[in-house]
Amino acid sequence: MTVLPLQFKNVCYKAPSKATDEAMPLIKDMSFTLEPTKRTVIIGPNGAGKSLLLRLCHGLIQPSDGEIVWAKANAAQHQAMVFQRPVMLRRTAAANIQYALTLNKVPKADQADIIDDVLTKTGLRRHAQTQARVMSFGEQQRLAIARAWALKPEVLFLDEPTASLDPSATHQIEELVNAMHQQGTKIIMTSHDLGQAKRLGDEILFLHRGRLLEHAPAEQFFNLPQNDLAQAFIKGDLLWWKRGEGARKNPKHSR
Ligand SMILES: Nc1ncnc2c1ncn2[C@@H]1O[C@H](COP(=O)(O)OP(=O)(O)OP(=O)(O)O)[C@@H](O)[C@H]1O
Ligand SMILES: [Mg+2]
Repeated sequence: MTVLPLQFKNVCYKAPSKATDEAMPLIKDMSFTLEPTKRTVIIGPNGAGKSLLLRLCHGLIQPSDGEIVWAKANAAQHQAMVFQRPVMLRRTAAANIQYALTLNKVPKADQADIIDDVLTKTGLRRHAQTQARVMSFGEQQRLAIARAWALKPEVLFLDEPTASLDPSATHQIEELVNAMHQQGTKIIMTSHDLGQAKRLGDEILFLHRGRLLEHAPAEQFFNLPQNDLAQAFIKGDLLWWKRGEGARKNPKHSR
């Protein structure tokens, strides 16, 4: 049995505001279901709540209201996450992967083969004994994917994994994401690069100011977005002047 689907039921997330002592709503009444196999891309302007949503999904923060439901109880053991800036320990590339394997109780006897396999798949085999922190940004991000891949997760979360990478490094990461997808890992990622969302997304969640304004198959979203803010976003319009709008057009997702 798989850990998917993942269901959000009227999920809200509030963070305390130092200035007013009131809780600020940052994720507002979100309900959706994410099925296995499809690559899900979460898009929206800066500050829309993409990273917070991913952190909620991955259990790094807890909802203030509503429910997050996985199909299986121990879902956390079947997930991995790759962040925008790779977080590497001060040791070699291989040792970084080994640390994750040990933490996840993978038997020592199996570790060397797994490490070799994922370093090969990510094109980093020659860097096995390189200190992770001296590797280039793009290499470190591939190493972050290798480390996640080593755990054979059912679900991989990626938060803007190529935001600071050049086109060639971006392409390499996208290939790896697709390779994991083809091996059966559910991909849930954020991006504010529309080209990337088109290339990688099977379905799109469009967020704006903490609300889910549209959830649609990628082709439909890019050809015929229902929400007017989503239309503006796709056209490349700036959205700051449209504050508060968008709740009107898509009553299904906007309250
Ligand atoms: N702990 C916190 N306390 C207060 N506000 C927060 C906290 N975490 C996030 N926020 C605010 O919540 C909003 C959404 O943040 P989030 O990082 O999810 O945006 P994002 O869509 O990922 O943006 P970006 O594209 O810039 O990465 C932002 O306005 C941010 O300032
Ligand atoms: Mg973010």
